[in-house]
Amino acid sequence: MCGIIGYSGHRPAIPAIVEGLHRLEYRGYDSAGVAFQYGDALRVIRAEGKLGALDQKIAGLDIASSVCGIGHTRWATHGLPVERNAHPHMDPGNGFALVHNGIIENYAELKADLVAHGHSFRSETDTEVLVHLIAQGAEQTDNVLQAIHWALQRVEGTYAFALISREHPGKIWASRKASPLLLGLGLGEHFIASDIPAFLPYTRDVVFLDNDEIVEIDAHSWQVFDAATLEPKSKEVRHISWDVQAAQKDGYKHFMLKEIFEQPKVIRDCLAGRIREGQVSLPEAENLDMPQRLTIVACGTSFHAGLWAKYLLESWARIPVQVEIASEFRYRDTVFLPGDLVLTISQSGETADTLAAIRIARDAGVPILGLCNVVGSSIARESDHVIYTQAGPEISVASTKAMCSQMIVLVLLTLYWCQRKNMLTRDELAARLDQLTSVPSILESALPALRDQAQNLCLDYADARSFFFLGRGLYFPLALEGALKLKEISYIHAEGYAAGEMKHGPIALVDAHFPTFALAVHDELLPKVASNLQEVQARGGRIIALMNASAPLTVTSPWILPDVWGAFKSFMVLPAVQLFAYEMAVYLGKDVDQPRNLAKSVTVE
Ligand code: M6R
Repeated sequence: MCGIIGYSGHRPAIPAIVEGLHRLEYRGYDSAGVAFQYGDALRVIRAEGKLGALDQKIAGLDIASSVCGIGHTRWATHGLPVERNAHPHMDPGNGFALVHNGIIENYAELKADLVAHGHSFRSETDTEVLVHLIAQGAEQTDNVLQAIHWALQRVEGTYAFALISREHPGKIWASRKASPLLLGLGLGEHFIASDIPAFLPYTRDVVFLDNDEIVEIDAHSWQVFDAATLEPKSKEVRHISWDVQAAQKDGYKHFMLKEIFEQPKVIRDCLAGRIREGQVSLPEAENLDMPQRLTIVACGTSFHAGLWAKYLLESWARIPVQVEIASEFRYRDTVFLPGDLVLTISQSGETADTLAAIRIARDAGVPILGLCNVVGSSIARESDHVIYTQAGPEISVASTKAMCSQMIVLVLLTLYWCQRKNMLTRDELAARLDQLTSVPSILESALPALRDQAQNLCLDYADARSFFFLGRGLYFPLALEGALKLKEISYIHAEGYAAGEMKHGPIALVDAHFPTFALAVHDELLPKVASNLQEVQARGGRIIALMNASAPLTVTSPWILPDVWGAFKSFMVLPAVQLFAYEMAVYLGKDVDQPRNLAKSVTVE
């Protein structure tokens, strides 16, 4: 939530910063701003609304001489999304400008204290308190690092911030606690940002900052300090393999569509090097004891991937599994048992609730395996073991290819544990892996027709205000995912339900205006699903049903999927529900990649 960027180098800072903000806009988009050195003063330009509004304010300004600055794109937590609350914020003396991602939890008491010392505030944000506090620290020392150190000792909460000072042109300071922050190292230029795509056109050499570190940069130097002691620290520089193209739309109208169509490649990338001679090779899991019980913790779409994997882990590998929503898990007094393993799943690797779950497990002495997409993210670094899902940058707020990659890695992990427990013969395992490797090409051929079908269905169902998504077994979590996708980008109310649970209440809602989207593929539960759909039809409900030609059902709108082996039918169902939501949102004229009220990575509670 919120994207921050800082630049110090040889090129005009504001175009580079604004370009970076566009690449970070997925993190928040209710207002934006930049601050930079302008003559002897700091200048701040801010605008309410999406970045386009800031672009317009900046266009035509004579600011090319500025080679250092900071920028922010906001997802509001404290204070309305209006210009006065947009970042950067300044101290009363206009000596500092600061951008912040996170929440200063004790801001109310800090603010009261500052007001008592004569400070007046220009916004309702928690962030403004932080810049006032740093300025207060600077009254006692002209060393900005010391002033930040002084302020951070008083602050509780989470933050990643970047700061510039009127008295120190060309310098930027930044620090983090539980919100992401990275350093990009170019030639004669350095960046600070919330995420790699912000500076990807300029450099792929990255330093991941850890909690409680402060970094000081200018165009030619950078140094990381321990925030508690101000001792310099040495840090590893990592070269990132992502390319600029991976973070661009590549001719697609929306990132979401591009990312849905990337799924065959994502599956191939996930499988690459992980299947050898009919066996699963997962070195990341080799040092883990076989879990006696697995607790999967995640949020949103990643939670659905975990719920889906539970069916496989239990039935194939015979491992007891519980799947928990991280925001609930963190406040329950969970009972851990010897032999437990906590598996966290996260695309961004920065989701605050999932991170909190990791810390709870760690404090309880339970080993943690993290599944995440973003290399070097907080979850990756705080887990004992990490498996990267290799989906490449996912920009659209609605997660699509990340879930596909998580499911593939979860299949591999399940089969890996089957292998270790000798649950399958060598031939059975090799056959299952063969079936898995055939999925990408089948999906690749199927995607254009899936999209056409989704487009056609929108014409018939765009008037619906509510949808049920029904499935059983493996297809129940995918029904939850289909409903989540539809509501988050098309704003149509949708409920994912276990098909067998309908008659316990929800079926009362069914009528001709409340359609059902059924996941009714050909598996052993199909006869049960078919009965549940009969019950819906008997009450006048219209039904779209994903199904296989080998077991067709008579419904209002049949949607035939290519047939693939057993559980891997899921890899056809997933893009179908994604495309349905996508086409519906496009048809209804919604902002697909940046749906209202949302942000890509949820780094606050
Ligand atoms: O980065 P994470 O996988 O931890 O994110 C979890 C959820 O915030 C995320 O899946 C969210 O639900 C998406 N908007 C769903 O499309």
